[in-house]
Amino acid sequence: MSFKEEQSRKIAEIEEILRRFLPKTESCQKIITDAMEYSLMAGGKRLRPLLMSETYRLFGGEKAVIEPFMAALEMIHTYSLVHDDLPAMDNDEYRRGRKTTHVVYGEAMGILAGDALLNAAFETAAMAFDMEDVDARIVGRAMQILASKAGVFGMIGGQVVDVNASGEKIDGETLDFIYRLKTGALIECAMMVGATLAGAAKDQVACVESIASKVGMAFQIQDDILDVTSTMEVLGKPIHSDEKNEKTTYVTWKGLAEAQKEVERLSNEAVCELRQLEPSDSFLEELLLSLIHREK
Ligand code: IPE
Ligand code: IPE
Ligand code: MG
Ligand code: MG
Ligand code: MG
Repeated sequence: MSFKEEQSRKIAEIEEILRRFLPKTESCQKIITDAMEYSLMAGGKRLRPLLMSETYRLFGGEKAVIEPFMAALEMIHTYSLVHDDLPAMDNDEYRRGRKTTHVVYGEAMGILAGDALLNAAFETAAMAFDMEDVDARIVGRAMQILASKAGVFGMIGGQVVDVNASGEKIDGETLDFIYRLKTGALIECAMMVGATLAGAAKDQVACVESIASKVGMAFQIQDDILDVTSTMEVLGKPIHSDEKNEKTTYVTWKGLAEAQKEVERLSNEAVCELRQLEPSDSFLEELLLSLIHREK
C-alpha cells in the first residue's frame, strides 16, 4: 500500500472514531450538537489524531485506550478553530471548505459550540478510565498533558499573544513564542499523549516533545505561506487573512523563500530526531516529510 493510500485509510478510521464520540441529542438543545457536528465533521486533515495514534503505535501501543484521546484532541483543535474564526478574533467566514460555524449558527452558538467541544473533549478522554485493562495513572497523566497543552501555557496562551500582537510590529522571539504555543502545543500534545499512553519512559516523552515542537513550528510557518500563496478552493479557508488582520508572520518577517527554507530545516531536524528514537517508523517519517510541501 502506498503512503497516500495508508494515510487515507487511517483518516477514514479517525472519522469513524470522531463520529462515535460526538455527543448527540434530539432534545431542545439539539442546535448545539448540530453545530458541534457541523464544525467537527467538516473534514479537516486530522493531523493531530493521526500523529497521536502513530506515536502510540511507534512505542508499541495497540489498545483502544488511544481512541477517546484522539477524539478529544481533535475536538479541542476544532474548538480552537471555531473561536479563532469569530468576529472578535480573525473574523473569517470559511473553514474546512464551508461557511464558519458562527456564520451558519450565529455568533452566540459559535461561542457555545466551541465551549461545548472543549467540555466534550474532557468528558471523552475521561472515558478511557472505564476501559478494560488500562493503567489509571497513565490515563491521568495523559489527561494532564491534554489539559496543559490546551491551556494558558499552551494553545490559549499563544492565541492571547497572537491576538494582542495584531496590528503591532513584533520581534522574532515573540513570533516564535506565539507559534510554539498557539500551534506547537497541540501538536506536542498529540505526540506526547501517544507516547505516554503506550508507556514510554519520561526521557522518551521529552524527545517526542522536542520533535513535535519542530513539527509544530514548521506547520505554522507553512500555514503562513499558504495564506499568501494558495487559494480558498484548495485551502478551504480564506487567503490573506493574516494581511487583513495586520499580523506579523514568518512571511512578512523573513519573506517567502526564507520561510520555506525554515519549514524544510525544522522538518528535516524533526525527522533526524525521530530516526534517533528506538524504534523507528517509516509511515511517521513520511508523514512529517509530506508536511514540508503540503498544499492545504
Ligand atoms: C489550522 O490547523 C490552524 C493551525 C494551527 C495552523 P490545520 O491546518 O490542521 O486545520 P484542519 O484541521 O486541517 O482544518
Ligand atoms: C490559529 O492560527 C491557530 C489556532 C490555535 C487556531 P491561524 O489563525 O493562522 O490559523 P488559521 O489560518 O485561521 O487556520
Ligand atoms: Mg488566528
Ligand atoms: Mg485564523
Ligand atoms: Mg493562518
